[in-house]
Amino acid sequence: MNAPCEFLNWDSAFFNYRVGRVTCDTLAEPAVEAILRWSADNRIDCLYFLARANDDETVRLAEANGFHLVDIRVTLTARASASASRSDHANGVTIRPHVHEDISVLRAIAATGYGDSRFYYDGHFPRERCNEMYAVWVEKACNDPEQRVLVATVEDRIAGFITCAMLSPDRGRIGLLGVAESFRGQRIGPCLIDSALDYFRSRNVEQVTVVTQGRNIAAQRSYQRAGFVTETIQLWYHKWFLP
Ligand SMILES: CC(C)(COP(=O)(O)OP(=O)(O)OC[C@H]1O[C@@H](n2cnc3c(N)ncnc32)[C@H](O)[C@@H]1OP(=O)(O)O)[C@@H](O)C(=O)NCCC(=O)NCCS
Repeated sequence: MNAPCEFLNWDSAFFNYRVGRVTCDTLAEPAVEAILRWSADNRIDCLYFLARANDDETVRLAEANGFHLVDIRVTLTARASASASRSDHANGVTIRPHVHEDISVLRAIAATGYGDSRFYYDGHFPRERCNEMYAVWVEKACNDPEQRVLVATVEDRIAGFITCAMLSPDRGRIGLLGVAESFRGQRIGPCLIDSALDYFRSRNVEQVTVVTQGRNIAAQRSYQRAGFVTETIQLWYHKWFLP
């Protein structure tokens, strides 16, 4: 029988907890038993579980077994080739590919932007580690030759960024989108999304995917105005085994 969970090396090393993840997206009584046994055998501190939102037995068993709901995962998609009505864009915003010298500012924007994510809402992970995780994420994207990071500037000051990756020759993914706090509310996020769609179109991408949080209304509205529609809704649970 396949293991019901997998050990997550990166998360464990980064957060200094033993972190695992349930590999299926529904629960039944026997699966729960196997998951709890695997977690004990592997001395797991925190177990992630990404559940289907439309299976009532899964939700009931997750709640009955101490899984805590930390996020609603919203996946949106857009057809890059469709001519979405473009948002009103901010005046004076320039979008360009990142250069190495941008990285420290992009790290700082990322470190303060994602308080809506499950890592902060979990409550166990130190906030400074969560901040650093997003800083590392944007830095990795900048250093990955397979990804494109677009930067928005206003009067030569970096206002935000968006990361774009190819999943396959005709599918792309937006990874992180972030606007510096002092520049929010000026439609710079929507402008970055449209530029990402232009980039994907130039690569002949058909479909673009992005994941955001159910509680992140600003992000959802920004994507919806650019032509994205909901693809799936899933539930993120975390279960802690610490005493
Ligand atoms: C999401 C984000 C990129 C939006 O960029 P922005 O340039 O500030 O966007 P704007 O505020 O000008 O407009 C975006 C839309 O969100 C709405 N919005 C902005 N803040 C909001 C809030 N706190 N609650 C609800 N809606 C909000 C705006 O009204 C606008 O919607 P509209 O077109 O229907 O009027 C920016 O808020 C941000 O960087 N947030 C932190 C990082 C993040 O959440 N990234 C996305 C996660 S994948």
